[in-house]
Amino acid sequence: MRVLSVAAEAFPLVKTGGLADVVGALPAALAPHGVETTTMIPGYPVVGASMKGAKVVRRWAGLMDTPARLLSGTIEGHPLLVLDAPALFNRKGGLYGQADDWRRFAALARAAADVAIDDGYAVLHAHDWQAALAPAYLRYDGASVRSVTTVHNIAFQGQFGADVFPALGLPDTAWRIDGVEYYGGVGFLKAGLAAADAITTVSPTYAAEIRENRFGMGLEGLIAARHARVHGIVNGIDPAVWNPETDAALPQRYTARALGRRRVNKRAIERTFGLEAGDGPLFTVISRLTWQKGMDVLAQRLDDLVAQGGRLALLGSGDAPLESAFLAAAARHPGRIGVRIGYDEPLSHLLQGGADAILIPSRFEPCGLTQLYGLAYGCVPVVARTGGLADTVIDANEAAIAAGVATGFQHGEVSDNSLAHAISRTIRAYSRPDLWCTIQRNGMRADFSWTESGRRYADLYKSLFA
Ligand code: ADP
Ligand code: GLC
Repeated sequence: MRVLSVAAEAFPLVKTGGLADVVGALPAALAPHGVETTTMIPGYPVVGASMKGAKVVRRWAGLMDTPARLLSGTIEGHPLLVLDAPALFNRKGGLYGQADDWRRFAALARAAADVAIDDGYAVLHAHDWQAALAPAYLRYDGASVRSVTTVHNIAFQGQFGADVFPALGLPDTAWRIDGVEYYGGVGFLKAGLAAADAITTVSPTYAAEIRENRFGMGLEGLIAARHARVHGIVNGIDPAVWNPETDAALPQRYTARALGRRRVNKRAIERTFGLEAGDGPLFTVISRLTWQKGMDVLAQRLDDLVAQGGRLALLGSGDAPLESAFLAAAARHPGRIGVRIGYDEPLSHLLQGGADAILIPSRFEPCGLTQLYGLAYGCVPVVARTGGLADTVIDANEAAIAAGVATGFQHGEVSDNSLAHAISRTIRAYSRPDLWCTIQRNGMRADFSWTESGRRYADLYKSLFA
């Protein structure tokens, strides 16, 4: 079965977050189940560099009114298509957030639908709002290609004014509440959710949460109405990229049997972040610094974390007031809190490989990948009980400890008290080396592979033809 997987990011070519990791890992996850995945992404400048000399397999004279070509290459040994439309994607600045985003991603979606139809793909799999118009194009073209829309984060919806509708090239009948119309404008994600043969999101708990208005962000009604077609399939991690036994970014590699070796990596973190050397609990954060991630609440707990003997090495970037709050905390606690503002892939590996615990106090979290990397690396996750965090971490409560299955710490809604309590529990558990080591090893042995989820996606694709 041939599937066209369409997204705005794919690791290792272009990444701003977990979406890229998942899109990058899917082809290998699906191959064992008889699915050949072709990944299609926009030709951003960073991507273009690795496509020099690539074969041109298709041309559009006017794709959303601009000339475009389709380049064929590979990504980690799997087929790749890059939409080379210089007027839309060959630009400085962020991947998203440009004034004509509607045109840029309508072009991606239109091109993907054309390719899926003309090249005989069985399924078009659209990831997030940037690809979500593709299932709508298939639907209004009356195409037989099946479609799946995956929600990686319902907070990002691709909402634009009604004035863009005529330029999308959809029939007038699409301007309906069960089409692309969304609160008086055009909703790209809404369109993809309405049109797709199946909807998935990246954890079972998030699939249930987005039926509620607290989490659905305006789309809860549509999700609830289509709930029979909504599936929660948790993300896995790519063992070729995230494995402490083989990770080239680690000064010291290790296995679950030799966790003492992590100390070398801890020393490297201390040096990199200007922290005092010590064997006390070292927390890390590797995150976008945003409201979603609960970073405002965490920033207020740091004096307390330090007072209890904890240290923190934080890597992240995002909202300016949050960046300032963390830098201020580092200035108040030299040697105890170190902050690196920025995006640094190798450093994120070092932090997972040497810190004792990773804090993820998200207000909502569709899946979350950093807790999975933490599990795999013996960096114990301390997480809010929401979305994929709830589904992938087993809280070290008395019952779980007695049963020998605890893998981390969970807290309720990220109010000050519940996060503070989780930090205290973590520090207490850390002071019991045997218990701590058991929690680390349980995590490292947990199944965070793509095996089960790859099978579930493959089964879902096949079910669309039943
Ligand atoms: P989200 O996609 O919502 O940001 P995820 O946990 O799914 O959250 O994925 C985040 C991904 O981005 C992970 O691979 C994480 O390691 C990475 N990441 C986040 N911030 C940084 C950073 N500042 N430097 C390096 N990697 C980062
Ligand atoms: C989104 C979500 C994150 C998820 C990722 C990959 O960025 O915020 O929770 O892990 O997509 O599915």
